[in-house]
Amino acid sequence: MHAQRRVEQHYAAPDLGERILGALAEAGHTVRPGELDALPPIDEMHHRGREATEELAAMGHWRPGLQVLDAGSGLGGSSRYLAVQHQCQVVGVDLTPDLCHAASLLSAALGIERTRFVRASATRLPVADATFDVVWTQHAQMNIPDKEAFYGELARALRPGGQLLFHDVFAGPAGAPHFPVPWADSETISSLVTPDRVAEILRRNGLLQRQWHDRTEVSLQWARKVSTAPPDTDMGSVGSLLMGPTRQTKMQNLERNLRERRIVLIQARYDKPLPQP
Ligand SMILES: C[S@@+](CC[C@H](N)C(=O)[O-])C[C@H]1O[C@@H](n2cnc3c(N)ncnc32)[C@H](O)[C@@H]1O
Repeated sequence: MHAQRRVEQHYAAPDLGERILGALAEAGHTVRPGELDALPPIDEMHHRGREATEELAAMGHWRPGLQVLDAGSGLGGSSRYLAVQHQCQVVGVDLTPDLCHAASLLSAALGIERTRFVRASATRLPVADATFDVVWTQHAQMNIPDKEAFYGELARALRPGGQLLFHDVFAGPAGAPHFPVPWADSETISSLVTPDRVAEILRRNGLLQRQWHDRTEVSLQWARKVSTAPPDTDMGSVGSLLMGPTRQTKMQNLERNLRERRIVLIQARYDKPLPQP
C-alpha cells in the first residue's frame, strides 16, 4: 500500500468532530462560539498540548492579519489558537479527510471564521510560491518519509521575510523507538531523522536558524504524567477517543522512548531572508 494511504488510515476517524462534541455535551460541557478554551485539551495532538503551542508561538513575531500555513493541522487546535490569539488568517493543510472535516466542525462550533482546512499532502502544497507570512508545523513530519519534499515545500510557501516555526519529534541517539506510539503502530509509517539532518535541509533551502530549543526533558516530565492517567480521567478518555484502545501502551512507549533518548523534541524558528538590494 502507498505510504500516504497508510498514514491516512492510521489517523482515519469518521465523524470524530461530531463524536467529540457529542461526548462533551454528554459530560455537560457546552461549546459556545467565542470560547476558545471551552474545549478540553483534545485538539492539540502533540507533546504538551497547548503549553507547547503557546511556547512555539512566543518564539515568533506577530501582527493582526498575517497569513499562516499550519502544515499537518490535524484537529486544528494550533490553527484556532493562532487565529484567535494573534488575529491571523490560518490555512490548515492535512492529509486525512476525517481530521480536516473535524477541524472545520470544531472551528464552526467555536464561531472561529479565520481558519480554513484543506485536504492535501504537505509534500505537494496546493499554494503559490511565497504565499504565507508564517509557516507553522507541529508533529506531522514524523509520518513523512520525503523530508526534502516536505521542508522544500514549506520553504517555497513562505514569503521572503517570513518565519518558519516548528515543534517536532526526531530520532535520538539511542536507536529505533519502541512501538506502538501515537503517530504509528509500527515502523512502517514512522520516518524519524536526526535534528541535524533537518537543520541541514533547511539551510540548503536558504532558511536561517534563529532559535533552537531541545524540549526532550520537559516532554519526558509531561509524558510521565499522561502515561499514567487512567482511561476514565478527562485526559485518558479523550486520548482513547483519538488513539483507540492502545492509548495507554502508546503513551507508555512515548515515555520510555523519551527516557531512553530514542526520540528527541525540538522547537525552532527559521527566517526566510529578504532578497539583497
Ligand atoms: C500527530 S497529528 C498532529 C496534528 C497537529 N499538527 C497538532 O499538533 O495537533 C499528525 C497530523 O499530520 C498529518 N499528516 C501526516 N502526513 C501528512 C502529509 N504528508 N501531509 C499533510 N498532513 C500530514 C496527519 O493526518 C495528522 O493529522
